[in-house]
Amino acid sequence: MARSLRRRATAKLVVVANRLPVDQVTLADGSVTWRPSPGGVVSALEPLMRAEAAAWVGWPGVSGEVEIPEDASDLSLVPVAITETEHEEYYEGFANATLWPLYHDLVAKPEFHREWWDAYIDVNQRFAAAAASVAARGATVWVHDYQLQLVPAILREMRPDLRIGFFLHIPFPPAELFSQLPWRRQILEGLLGADLVGFQLPGAAANFIRLVRDRVGHKTQRESVFLPDGRVVTARAFPISIDAAGFEELARTVAIEERAEQIRSDLGNPAKVFLGVDRLDYTKGIYPRLRAFSELIADGSLSVEDAVFVQVATPSRERVEEYRTMRDEINRLVGRVNGDLGRIGRQAISYLHVSLPREEMAALYRAADIMVVTPYRDGMNLVSKEYVACRYDDLGALVLSEFAGAAAELRQAFLVNPYDINGMKAQMLTAYEAKPREQARRMRAMRRTVAEHDVTQWASNFLDALG
Ligand code: F6P
Repeated sequence: MARSLRRRATAKLVVVANRLPVDQVTLADGSVTWRPSPGGVVSALEPLMRAEAAAWVGWPGVSGEVEIPEDASDLSLVPVAITETEHEEYYEGFANATLWPLYHDLVAKPEFHREWWDAYIDVNQRFAAAAASVAARGATVWVHDYQLQLVPAILREMRPDLRIGFFLHIPFPPAELFSQLPWRRQILEGLLGADLVGFQLPGAAANFIRLVRDRVGHKTQRESVFLPDGRVVTARAFPISIDAAGFEELARTVAIEERAEQIRSDLGNPAKVFLGVDRLDYTKGIYPRLRAFSELIADGSLSVEDAVFVQVATPSRERVEEYRTMRDEINRLVGRVNGDLGRIGRQAISYLHVSLPREEMAALYRAADIMVVTPYRDGMNLVSKEYVACRYDDLGALVLSEFAGAAAELRQAFLVNPYDINGMKAQMLTAYEAKPREQARRMRAMRRTVAEHDVTQWASNFLDALG
């Protein structure tokens, strides 16, 4: 399917993202196969992609040329090959060791290397060329995220007939931080190739508009940028969300409810279960939250008989140095806390370094009394919304960092500053002690917000504004 689309430029909608929505899996007998990787964005776009002749351009997740069997996905996939060196320089380097920390408040120190930048340009050109080759005349192309910020301008140069949208899933930093980037002007000009540039929050759109005015010198007014050639680019917030109804439906099934009970029983039926679910990333604030929890146990505010912390950390970007360092730090902390504070058969922290399927996540959300989401900086944070969607009984408490994009919508969470350990301890304790009435008052309001603004609405809002 992908091959025929490539030969004939017939796609009326083209999604361009760093990853294709399929994963390569190795079976027990050692053979390799592919399966769809269901994510929120995929499920939101799937109906649209089926309705129109559509294509998804992306990297298959493994280096070099790969064949993706036609039955791997119902969608038309257009794989972009990336070499091992490009994987190091473009993905691990420029995307995840330069842009990622720079866009997340410099939680880690960004590295600037000229050869990484060159690889970023090359790979962005390849993605743009792949999109140009499948897009029908006048098609809509939706480019996603920080790995591909040059694609809009390159693509416009190749195909001025296209309608081009770009959405940034992560934060966009203030001018004071962004200006460190040696290639700041090129990135801004890359994004300006789009007709619509979407951000998670209005503040990020404002940062972009200010930078375009000050660094590129274009005239701007509110959310509009006026280019010398007469084109107008709009920069606006489109807060992303989840398939709220789908999560709730899953959480309501008997199998998930039984699994949730099993989890609690495996944990020794403690009075309360705290839960953290994150990609193992230094922006997520896993360390300070586990520290806060362990101090609550150590100072007697909580006891291991009454409370356990389940932390699921999904492996991520494991060859990037900062990620390895953080993984070691967390391993050491968990070992120390359990050694010092645990009892036989009762660990203070139950730590899992795994990637879990959606069903197991839903069961964990159902099992958890207190969900703890404490990023130092996060574009949105979908885990917090998934937890809320699964709490159809209106019970449970969400402790949420004020630096997560989701905090702008989930105002009734127990909001915390992850840099303030004492403040976090106090809020975790308040959440622990919250009476069912108080939990329900907060949860009902948050559930309404998440139900009203789901991922399908997010996608159609963006595409309507682009159209
Ligand atoms: O949050 C940004 C993001 O790129 C997500 O879109 C994605 O799910 C996640 O990070 C995982 O990143 P990677 O593709 O590097 O594994």
